[in-house]
Amino acid sequence: MRRAVCPGSFDPVTNGHIDIVSRASALFDEVVVAIGVNKSKASARLFSAEERMEMLREATKGFDNVTVAGFSGLLTTFCQENDIRAIVKGLRAVSDFDYELQMAQMNSSLVDVETVFIPTSPEYSFLASSLVKEVAMFGGDVSALVPPFVLDRLTVRLAEKRAAESAGE
Ligand code: PNS
Repeated sequence: MRRAVCPGSFDPVTNGHIDIVSRASALFDEVVVAIGVNKSKASARLFSAEERMEMLREATKGFDNVTVAGFSGLLTTFCQENDIRAIVKGLRAVSDFDYELQMAQMNSSLVDVETVFIPTSPEYSFLASSLVKEVAMFGGDVSALVPPFVLDRLTVRLAEKRAAESAGE
């Protein structure tokens, strides 16, 4: 059984993530999409771990061999605990490569795990959750970049955030 993990923050999941998960699901028998739920970064997130997991479950429900999980601590510990020997990462551009290579080498020095890089489809090469949030925050149209149910949640959450900020002013 060839099992892989697609790890990330997914705050929120984008069409670029779904593209990588879909291609990983064609390469492996089982794919676990694993959301880092480290408490140290929790305040920087727009969505809670549970919300991010709900959106990912919805986004991946069409793939029979894909499941969604949360993990805290090291990704390599999650891999050991779940008998996973492959980490799948999307590479958008050369700028991603330095850090991803460093993480891949660190992870393989810790446990017996390989990192498999999948080049992002060209239409998503500029796509990042952080940019989606920023563009949406300033009223830009991100409807082509995230699934409709993510767009709905994003719109609501950003309106809540704006209301909270203006109440605090
Ligand atoms: O979507 P992101 O923010 O690029 O995802 C990064 C993530 C969660 C995959 C990465 O930070 C990670 O693996 N975190 C778990 C902690 C860990 O194992 N750190 C050592 C990495 S070498």
